[in-house]
Amino acid sequence: MVTLEELKAVFKPKLKPIIWREDSLDLLDQSALPFQTTYITVKTPEEVAKAIKLMQVRGAPAIGITAGYGMVLALISTKPNTLNEAIEELVKAKQIMDQARPTAVNLSWATSRMLNFAKKKIEEGEAKSVSELIQLMKEEANRIYEEELEAELKIGMYGLEKISDGDTILTQCNAGGLATGTGLGTALAPVKLAHYLGMKVSVIAPETRPWLQGSRLTVYELMAEGIQVTLITDTAVGLVIYKNMVNSVMVGADRILKDGHVFNKIGTFKEAVISHELGIPFYALAPSSSFDLKSKVDEIKIEERDPNEVRTIRGIPIVPENVKVYNPVFDVTPPKYITALITEKGVIYPPFEKNIPKIIGL
Ligand code: MRU
Repeated sequence: MVTLEELKAVFKPKLKPIIWREDSLDLLDQSALPFQTTYITVKTPEEVAKAIKLMQVRGAPAIGITAGYGMVLALISTKPNTLNEAIEELVKAKQIMDQARPTAVNLSWATSRMLNFAKKKIEEGEAKSVSELIQLMKEEANRIYEEELEAELKIGMYGLEKISDGDTILTQCNAGGLATGTGLGTALAPVKLAHYLGMKVSVIAPETRPWLQGSRLTVYELMAEGIQVTLITDTAVGLVIYKNMVNSVMVGADRILKDGHVFNKIGTFKEAVISHELGIPFYALAPSSSFDLKSKVDEIKIEERDPNEVRTIRGIPIVPENVKVYNPVFDVTPPKYITALITEKGVIYPPFEKNIPKIIGL
């Protein structure tokens, strides 16, 4: 097995989707890619929530990292006079940001972590003033970022064991460095690291209608790395698996439940069922911050977005005006279709109900 140190030595991020500026946050605007490379600056939790809603920052881990910094911005922008007021501002900021998008658990995971951290530092007497609290919160938000990158390198390390030289991987959406904010990614980490280690690997990327994360972002990200990528329509997925054009399927996750149900970008379920039926391994790759060991499958809200995302392509109408549209942007894959979950804590095989709590240990 390749070691973590070897992987750290070969990984040189080409993308910087999230840049912390000490009193503001710059976000690479993913809604404008690949046509424009522009950053937006956010300074308040409201601006963070707006950027998440508009998907200027998107992907479960990237949303989590951004919301972590958003909690620091809550204190910097409101300038509370007392530690009690600071906690009130953090509670408000958490509410504002948690509502921005419902499915990715990393969002509320990060805001809860930051709020609990603040309470603990005050209780323990380590934060005696608001400015001390802000400093400690900055360090904690940076830690969320650093831990995410470390987790992705480990996910890549375990995922590499499932890849052979010459393999082609089918993915869905963009679960690369744009989606995680670190420049590496989850589902794309093994492929990228294999490429850095000199292996020949390629990716098949479905467009991922309606927001086109596959054709706009995955293609852009892999081409920037010099990794061979072939774009297909979402409707071609069945055929490419049937024609043995892929060796495995690797996708990310927005939320994984204790029993192994995986919530991810719409289209993931179809890939899982077809690959299971045709004997191709299907892996979901995610850090432990994407696991939700408390909720039941029916309790999770699947986000539905604006019908105009389906009625148009980048603003250009493509259907009869005002046609009724159903636009769920995530689906849920039952555990029986999943070969394994690849996390920073190791590879989790079925039975998931038993093995997820054992390995994730939350
Ligand atoms: O709607 P998006 O673009 O935020 O959805 C992203 C996905 O579904 C990703 O696969 C998931 O967040 C994992 S990202 C590493």
